[in-house]
Amino acid sequence: MPTMLTPDALAVDAVWSPEQVAYFQSEIERRKGSVGWYHEVTVTDRAGHSVRTPGIHACLPILAVLERFGFPRDFTGKTVLDIGCNAGFYSSVAKVRGARSVLGIDYFQHSIEQARLLRDILQLDIDFRQGDGEALGEGLGPFDVVINTGVMYHLQNPMQFLSNMARLTTELMFLESEMLVDSRHSEYAWFIEHEYNRDLSNWWIYGPECLGRMVRAAGFSRAEFKGFAWTPARGEKTPEGLDRQGRGVMLCWK
Ligand SMILES: C[S@@+](CC[C@H](N)C(=O)[O-])C[C@H]1O[C@@H](n2cnc3c(N)ncnc32)[C@H](O)[C@@H]1O
Repeated sequence: MPTMLTPDALAVDAVWSPEQVAYFQSEIERRKGSVGWYHEVTVTDRAGHSVRTPGIHACLPILAVLERFGFPRDFTGKTVLDIGCNAGFYSSVAKVRGARSVLGIDYFQHSIEQARLLRDILQLDIDFRQGDGEALGEGLGPFDVVINTGVMYHLQNPMQFLSNMARLTTELMFLESEMLVDSRHSEYAWFIEHEYNRDLSNWWIYGPECLGRMVRAAGFSRAEFKGFAWTPARGEKTPEGLDRQGRGVMLCWK
């Protein structure tokens, strides 16, 4: 039985020795580095041993939500790029769901080191490389499916990034991002400049209509807004006192 997704964990078809469990746990701790983990995921073996990465992004419950908004349940035979892969959870899902090949790229080397550890624990064949989606060279891809979750608002040059993704995608890009929730602002984008939600790497938050136009202008034929996967409580503020926005999903067809 290959590696599987269960409601609570990724399950590997192996029985780990106590030494392996101790090694995985010490590597998870070591690869925290100074920034910690983002992806929180539990991996179990056939004997019921488990290891857990201690992130703030509850991967499996969030995956269940994204599936309701069109995240593919089947990747059979697809070539997949997971751009901004972080610790590689969505790359792993694509592989477990039958992808022919998966490449995960992230800007930060420490994320790539975490992703490689998760890959090794899961015994999956996935390529993880450090790279910048805003400045990808030639010779990559193309890919049937691109997974682009949680990245758009971190970009200073989103049109350059989207043009790169359009060049690399042959079928579908699954896009999830912080998006403006007020429908009166749907055609606009908000440039943050300073901190948003305690994160200095947040630059742009887009209205759904604005982002759809950007996606088409970059080279996709159709942008289908699937709705908000998460919305803030009425009047909710970020710690900086800014209006908290929602998380929207868009299917971008080539
Ligand atoms: C909020 S995390 C989302 C991670 C993952 N895609 C997910 O949905 O859980 C954003 C990730 O995008 C990466 N990132 C930001 N800008 C990037 C860029 N220009 N090229 C590649 N990765 C980037 C960050 O390093 C980080 O790992």
